[in-house]
Amino acid sequence: MSTETSELVNLTRISDEQELRELERKYCSWGDTVHYLEPPKFFDRAEGSYLYDREGTPYLDLQMWYSAASFGYGNQRLNDALTRQLNKLPQLASQYLHPERVELAAAIARLNESKFGMEGRVHFNVGGSQAIEDSLKIVRNATGKNLVFAFMGGYHGRTLAASAITSSYRYRRRYGHFADRAHFVPFPYCFRCPYDKKREDCGLYCVQQFEKNFETEYNSFWDPKAGESEFSAFYVEPIQGTGGYVIPPPEYFPALKKVLDDHKILMVDDEIQMGFYRAGKFWAMENFDVAPDIVVFGKALTNGLNPLSGVWAREELISPETFPPGSTHSTFASNTLGTAVALEAVRMMQENDYETSVQSKGTYFLTQLKELQRRYPKVIGDTDGMGLALRIEICREDGYEPDRELTDKIFQEGMKGDLSARGRTMGLVLDVGGYYKNVFTLSPCFDITEEEIDLAVELLEQLIRRCAPERV
Ligand SMILES: Cc1ncc(COP(=O)(O)O)c(C=O)c1O
Repeated sequence: MSTETSELVNLTRISDEQELRELERKYCSWGDTVHYLEPPKFFDRAEGSYLYDREGTPYLDLQMWYSAASFGYGNQRLNDALTRQLNKLPQLASQYLHPERVELAAAIARLNESKFGMEGRVHFNVGGSQAIEDSLKIVRNATGKNLVFAFMGGYHGRTLAASAITSSYRYRRRYGHFADRAHFVPFPYCFRCPYDKKREDCGLYCVQQFEKNFETEYNSFWDPKAGESEFSAFYVEPIQGTGGYVIPPPEYFPALKKVLDDHKILMVDDEIQMGFYRAGKFWAMENFDVAPDIVVFGKALTNGLNPLSGVWAREELISPETFPPGSTHSTFASNTLGTAVALEAVRMMQENDYETSVQSKGTYFLTQLKELQRRYPKVIGDTDGMGLALRIEICREDGYEPDRELTDKIFQEGMKGDLSARGRTMGLVLDVGGYYKNVFTLSPCFDITEEEIDLAVELLEQLIRRCAPERV
C-alpha cells in the first residue's frame, strides 16, 4: 500500500489503563516475560527501593530489575552523569572514540590487573547476551574450538548462541537443532546435591566426577597423546542467578579451576548478574579466590540506564594480533550514554565501601530470613546468601519437596499491592527462580536500610500467612 493511501494512525496519548491493556493484548508480542504475571502490572514511577503504580501505591522492590538497578531507582549521581553526557555528546558511532569509553575500559582492565595479576582488554556491547556472544567469538577465535562446558541450572541469555550454553531446554525447544549446545555439568547445589551427597563429607565429589571425564580418551573429552581437550572453555556463574541464587561451597571453584588449568580449558566467568558488588565484592568470583580467563559483565554497570555490557579477556586472547579490527561489531556497542554512566558508576564503586556495606546488610537480611525459616519450617526449606544476593526456597510441609504453586501464589499476591504495614498499603516485588521455580531470588537495592529490611521480612511473613494459612 502506498503512503498516500494508508491511513494516519491515532497517536494521541492514552491514559486509560483498560484501553492500554486492550492494545497490549492485541499489538504487543507475548513472547517476552510480561505475561508471567496475569494481569501484567503497570508502573508509573520509581525511587530508591520502591516502584509506584498508577494509583501511587508503593511496592518495595526486592529484585531491582534482576540486579540491574542495584544502586537504586533514580540514583542522582548516575542520572546526572547521563544528563551531562546527553548535553555534551549524546550520540556517536561506535567506530569513533570518546574519552569515557577509553577511561572505562582502562579502569576495568586496571582493576582486573590488580585483582587477577593479568593484563587484558575490554570489548563493549549493549546487552548481556550480546557480550556472551562476543566472549564465545573470543574463545572460538583464540582456541579454534567451539565446544564448551556450562552448568546445569546456568543461564547466559536468550540469543541463539547464549541459549545454546544455557541449560534450560525450554528456552531452546522451539528453535531447532543447536549443534553447539554446551555439555552441561552438575552445579554444586548442595541443598539438592545432584549426587545425593552431604556437603560436610562429600570431598567435592562433583569435581572428582568432572575430572574423571579426562581419565582416558574413551571418556570422550580428552586426547592424552596430544594433551588436548575437545572443549575450549567452561562457562560459569559464580553464584547461579536464574538458577536460584545457588551459592557453591568455598572450595569448589579453586578445585574446578585446577582441573581446567590442567587440561588447558579456559574459565569464562559470567558476572552479568552477580558482578559489581551484588555478592559483596566487585566480581562475585573474588569471593572464591579464583582468577578467570574471561569476565563477562552487564546489567548494574549502568544501573539500568542506557545499557552497556562487555567482556574482559586476558591479553593473549584479545590482543590486536589475535582479535584484529572488525572481529565483531554492533552499532550501539560502547554508546556514549552508557559508557558515561558506567564510568561514573565505577568511580562511585571506588569511592564508596560497598564491600563493607553490602556484606553487613546482607548478613543482617540473611539473619532475619533464617529466623523466618525457623518460624515457618513447613513453608521455607532453605535460605542462603552472599552479600545482597539472597535466596528463599519454598518447600512443602516436609521442608524439602519444592512447592512451585505456593511460590507462584506468594509472588502474585505480592504484586497485588494490597498488603498493609506500618499504616501503609503496599506491594512487594519478588522474582521467582530456581531449577524447580520455587526460589525467591532477592537482590535488593544497595541503599536498602535496616528498617526497610525489617519491613521486607514483615511483608514476606504476611504473604506466607495469607497464602499458606494451614502451614503456619
Ligand atoms: C548470568 C546472566 N548471564 C547472562 C544474562 C543475559 O543478559 P541480558 O538479559 O542482558 O541479555 C543474564 C540475564 O539475566 C544473566 O543473569
